[in-house]
Amino acid sequence: MAESARRATGLPEDVRSAIAELRKHYPTEEALLLPALHFAQKHWGGWLPEEAILAVAQELQLPAARVYGVVTFYDLFHQNPVGRHRVRVCTNLSCALRGGNEILEAVQGRLGVRENEVSGDGKCSVVEFECLGACEQAPMMMVDDEYHGRLTPERARRIVEELD
Ligand code: FES
Repeated sequence: MAESARRATGLPEDVRSAIAELRKHYPTEEALLLPALHFAQKHWGGWLPEEAILAVAQELQLPAARVYGVVTFYDLFHQNPVGRHRVRVCTNLSCALRGGNEILEAVQGRLGVRENEVSGDGKCSVVEFECLGACEQAPMMMVDDEYHGRLTPERARRIVEELD
């Protein structure tokens, strides 16, 4: 479809024009979905509220369920606001058996947040995670791209305290 024939969607103009630029190089609208979601997430401050997801679906003329499926599949898309640092604490079996829930409580208590909340200073958001793929280092957490294993509650608290 020609750009001029595209109807306005709920996406802001900067996101629409970034998508339009890429469209020239992508074979299908579906192939544009991941970069379009990245553009939208950046525009919305690091997460994708429902309006952003629906606007991307409308822009690419894809079923909303398809777009939701991608957003919920990939850990790099967020449906809740996130802090400057993203803390993922594993409470799956290996970690749970070695104190993963105590690590989660320690981190949340230190930051004063619960699941999917952002600390008051905007520094951290915390999510409980289903296996970080490093079970041999249980209990585990990940801060941004960095793994921290064989944690104790004290060490976990110190790690989040020392973040910028
Ligand atoms: Fe925690 Fe796998 S169970 S990293």
